[in-house]
Amino acid sequence: MKISVIGAGYVGLTTAACLAELGHTVCCADNDEGKLNLLRKGQMPFFEPHLEEIVVRNCSNGRLRFDNTENAVTGAQAIFICVGTPPLENGEADLSAVANVARTIGQRATGYCLVIEKSTVPVQTGQQLKRQLQLYAEKGLRCDLASNPEFLREGSAIEDFFHPERIVVGVEREDVAMLMEEIYRPLLDQTFICPIHKDCKTGKTPGWVVTDTNSAELIKHASNSFLAMKISFINMVADLCESVGADVTQVARGMGMDTRIGKAFLNPGIGFGGFCFPKDVQAFVRIATKAGCDFSLLKEVENINKRRIDRFVEKVCKELWVIRGRKIAVLGLAFKPNTDDVRFAPAIELLRTFVREGATVSAYDPQAIEKARAIVPNVEYCSSPLAAAQDADAIVIATEWDEFRTLDWNAVKKVVARPLVVDGRNMFKPAEMVARGFSYVSIGRQSAAPELQSTELDSAIPEVTPNGTVKAL
Ligand code: UGA
Repeated sequence: MKISVIGAGYVGLTTAACLAELGHTVCCADNDEGKLNLLRKGQMPFFEPHLEEIVVRNCSNGRLRFDNTENAVTGAQAIFICVGTPPLENGEADLSAVANVARTIGQRATGYCLVIEKSTVPVQTGQQLKRQLQLYAEKGLRCDLASNPEFLREGSAIEDFFHPERIVVGVEREDVAMLMEEIYRPLLDQTFICPIHKDCKTGKTPGWVVTDTNSAELIKHASNSFLAMKISFINMVADLCESVGADVTQVARGMGMDTRIGKAFLNPGIGFGGFCFPKDVQAFVRIATKAGCDFSLLKEVENINKRRIDRFVEKVCKELWVIRGRKIAVLGLAFKPNTDDVRFAPAIELLRTFVREGATVSAYDPQAIEKARAIVPNVEYCSSPLAAAQDADAIVIATEWDEFRTLDWNAVKKVVARPLVVDGRNMFKPAEMVARGFSYVSIGRQSAAPELQSTELDSAIPEVTPNGTVKAL
């Protein structure tokens, strides 16, 4: 099919590239001309595993091109709307970009086209869109609307596109669902070649969920909010474990074996971040309130998440006693591994807090340094974990990159001022870090420390002068 995808962000660019990989002829549009030029040269505006190779391959075989929105919508059989819906001050989604695309479609699209809403939008947006597009019927535009919410995760977006657990399609008529089926046919029939695992012949056929448009829109917000609720729930269980001497890893394992609960999304930590969960939970609360439902459960999910950073900083403070004048090395800046996205990343909040409290802060991330530097400049960004750890009084793990799992921790121990790891992601078993000579503090588990030799006492308790400099005792 001749498809246009409007918006070259995480969702739009991934969708465009993967639809081209499935065999469609795709035009991906954005109103940022600089981004389009970058993409035409095969350069990605963000890091996403496997995306670059798929974009480059499909540009060279002619199935994928980049253009402005006006040109993209002209003559397209199907138009995916993948523009941003950022939060307004009051938490509601800003739909102005979606409305602008609708106007351009109305003015420029010709004949029949299927308009597919993929951006995360409040329930009933599809109905509004449909009304908006009907205003252009006089000039010959004939279109239908489908809601097709996206469930891909940053960092595994390509994998998620080709192996989704379900594809949700909200439509008003059966024949529109059939058009959507045509678009996803290779995934439904398992006839595509997976670009990541070339020899994976068949995966599990995705669930094909056809609903009305309102329900499809609600599925997206309800799913993200439910997952966020799971995280806040386990984070509170973690706090309880710390207070009563239990181990949250064991509790989560025992809970997760019950298939009604499921083991996914029960990893406690410094809270959920990224551009989806925080804004979607907020938006869902607003949607419910406007519809006359007080979804106070979700308000508490948000509140619990907001408290995670303060609680974690308290842990660091408890270990270091005074933060001012200490050197803290933060490992991991992205909101989760395998992405360079730092939007609403808990790590960024940590950097800001440590800097504000007067610490000297060094930081390392395999992908996100440049994006972090742009928003928190007064941090020493380092080219390796070892460089960041140099002379540090504490190493704080904020994102669970695999690289930290396989780090030479013996080498790290040699360069730090004090062997203390405060792990916001529970990457290690406490005994394992203690065996490597580190004091280890994590989430929802008991802290552990090696036996302290009397000769090590001096360096463990450095003296801090009122202006924040550290003196040897
Ligand atoms: C999320 C959803 O998982 C996707 O299905 C959805 O399509 C996407 O939002 C979206 O709406 O666009 P994403 O934000 O990429 O995807 O990341 P997740 O893997 O869901 O992680 C979100 C946050 O939760 C991260 O900060 C992560 O560290 C945190 N998390 C996740 C936990 O703290 N504990 C867990 O057990 C799992």
